[in-house]
Amino acid sequence: MTDTPTRIDMPEVSWTALGAAWMRAQEGRRPDALFSDPVAAQFVDAVGGEAPYIAAGEQALADAGGDVLANPFTAMGDYVAIRTRWLDDLLRAAAADGIRQVVLLAAGLDTRAQRLPWPAGLRLFELDLPGLVAFKERVLRDGGAPPTCDRVTVSCDLRGDWPAALRDAGFDPGRPAVWLAEGLLHYLTPAVNQSMLDGVAGLSAPGSLLAVDHIEAAMMGGNNAETANSTGLAYDQLVKGGPGEHVVTWLERSGWLPTVHEVADCALRYGRPVPPLIDPAVPGSVRDGAVFLLARRNVPSPDSR
Ligand SMILES: C[S@@+](CC[C@H](N)C(=O)[O-])C[C@H]1O[C@@H](n2cnc3c(N)ncnc32)[C@H](O)[C@@H]1O
Repeated sequence: MTDTPTRIDMPEVSWTALGAAWMRAQEGRRPDALFSDPVAAQFVDAVGGEAPYIAAGEQALADAGGDVLANPFTAMGDYVAIRTRWLDDLLRAAAADGIRQVVLLAAGLDTRAQRLPWPAGLRLFELDLPGLVAFKERVLRDGGAPPTCDRVTVSCDLRGDWPAALRDAGFDPGRPAVWLAEGLLHYLTPAVNQSMLDGVAGLSAPGSLLAVDHIEAAMMGGNNAETANSTGLAYDQLVKGGPGEHVVTWLERSGWLPTVHEVADCALRYGRPVPPLIDPAVPGSVRDGAVFLLARRNVPSPDSR
């Protein structure tokens, strides 16, 4: 962590959630916003403009016109907006299909529990590290919008026995769920990603869905560490490797049937240009290194058991 003074006691990796909230707050200011997330700005305001990520983001806007990829905010903002909307649409569709349990793995400062119009009886579980959950609850208590579903927070570490904590919080493994791992995989080691995936599988009734996005670790750390570290966070320390293999293979090997959704196609569908992060025309972009995936649980047929 930088030496920025703060009253908020969160591990460094949890400050990345504030970066995502800042980007969603920026999106909400656009006349053609893909979604509205007013509480995102409340999280940003609660930490003040000097916090890591926020100060760098404001500077990035002031510097607009520079090298778009040299700046994590201009590089990532469009991507995060499109990802948010794509997952909003996916969750709405899952709820319309009858799914009544949603689990946000590493929910961060996500406000879907407040912003989406959920059907009666829907339970939404938000898992994240205790410091992040405490900060989020404080801001929501001080002025956030009420949830539009049965919202349950679960303070836990995805490196530990989070499935037990989730069950204790009321999750029903006998009913299908839709799971989200958004902006998460590269902050976990391959071993932790695998145990998380095993945990999800162990709690997934037939009909369950898992949605993930994945950006190659090289974009977040590695060769781009200097760019990423300009956020005020030590990304080269935070990025832990992701699944450790191609994300499609990783999901298939664990019994999921993934469908790849190209970010560029999603962008075009929403009337947005291809985000610079993945635009082949932008030197240094990750091209096909960023994907959205929706996976269905591959339940073996009785014949193949
Ligand atoms: C980039 S944020 C993404 C948050 C949210 N999904 C979003 O898209 O806005 C990454 C999140 O992962 C959480 N996280 C990282 N490691 C974790 C762990 N071991 N257990 C639980 N949460 C973790 C952080 O606290 C942070 O909220």
